[in-house]
Amino acid sequence: MTALHEAWSDEDGVARVRELFGATFGGAGDDAVAVWSAPGRVNLIGEHTDYNAGLCLPVALPHRTFVALRRRDDTLVRIASAQERVDGTPQLRELDLADVTPGSVEGWPACVVGVAWALREAGHDVPGFDAVVDSCVPYGAGLSSSAAIESAFAVALDEISGTGLAASDAGRVELVAACIRAENEMAGAPTGGMDQGASLRCSPGTALLLDCRPELAADETATHVPFDLDAAGLALLVIDTRAEHQLADGQYAQRRSTCEDAARTLGVAHLRELADSLDAQGDAGDGLAAALERLPDDVSRARVRHVVTEIGRVREFVALVSDGRTAEVGPLMDASHASLRDDYEVSCAELDVAVEAARAAGALGARMTGGGFGGSAIALVRADVVDAVGDAVVAAFADAGFTAPDLLVATASASADRSA
Ligand code: GLA
Repeated sequence: MTALHEAWSDEDGVARVRELFGATFGGAGDDAVAVWSAPGRVNLIGEHTDYNAGLCLPVALPHRTFVALRRRDDTLVRIASAQERVDGTPQLRELDLADVTPGSVEGWPACVVGVAWALREAGHDVPGFDAVVDSCVPYGAGLSSSAAIESAFAVALDEISGTGLAASDAGRVELVAACIRAENEMAGAPTGGMDQGASLRCSPGTALLLDCRPELAADETATHVPFDLDAAGLALLVIDTRAEHQLADGQYAQRRSTCEDAARTLGVAHLRELADSLDAQGDAGDGLAAALERLPDDVSRARVRHVVTEIGRVREFVALVSDGRTAEVGPLMDASHASLRDDYEVSCAELDVAVEAARAAGALGARMTGGGFGGSAIALVRADVVDAVGDAVVAAFADAGFTAPDLLVATASASADRSA
């Protein structure tokens, strides 16, 4: 049996960052040092729909990023990550919040100071801080390791600033907005917000149905859909292909602008509007075909077809799960993957091999998850065949000459919070 990438317990994560804090700054045992953590996520279905004001359905992973942090009385930020070492020692980065502007910070610290900057921009009095980070969220795997960093700092900074936003869902929506600004404007990744929403708003045992229409009130944007795979005798296997995955490389931005251009051509604010009007007409395909005819080229037709059909699949998926028929969602996952591969063109050889091998070994359905171009796939499997499906995927990767994948099992877990 292939070993699974296990999540750390809370105690373990807390002990790690406390120790690292002590080694970096001293005083780890002080009351002034506290620990917060935030999860990575997998999206069950609804891919590349968030920036089209659509629907998506992420769950929080049990894998979390931990932050030990102590406030400062000035605006200095000193941060180190266990994942960024020079000669085995975490490298200390030092910045001044007073000087931070978009584009001025490189790498993972952009996510951290970006959150502080966005909260200050929103009028909150965020002080400087000393902090260390450690994480068991696989890095660069399309499982939102950067949203986990942003969200862990968001709840930490919220608490040390006395803002109190993390205490309510409406407040958390403001934290999500700050994290999105950090990612879009500081880190320069034009992502849509699903990941930050998942990390800050998910709850254990449920999937988060996010409705990304910007005009909605905060409390209309999230519905918690009970998602207890254990009770259904099922499991969600996550396959990190370890194929290089880079959202900032222009492909993601290109998909997004193709959708925005298409929306303008079709005279709608977002492609969601088209999806809703077709849905309201009970469209069986003719309405969509007619809309696609109005687009200038086959590429934009394919992209729009993906977005519209994917929003429909989210609705069907939620209807099945809500009806206690989770074991029947497999074909929707398969159709989502085909649409992302053929119409949206964001899959890759490793993702395709992962989903095909998983299905051949008995998965009920499988699809890539997240932005694509590498990253991870998910397979819905009966609990008793998790090992067999994992082994089959590992064997298929070896046959194809790919780097061995990293496997983990996702259970719908908790959102960002204080850990100690
Ligand atoms: C990445 C982005 C999200 C979303 C997905 C695709 O994860 O961060 O905003 O667009 O890709 O669904």
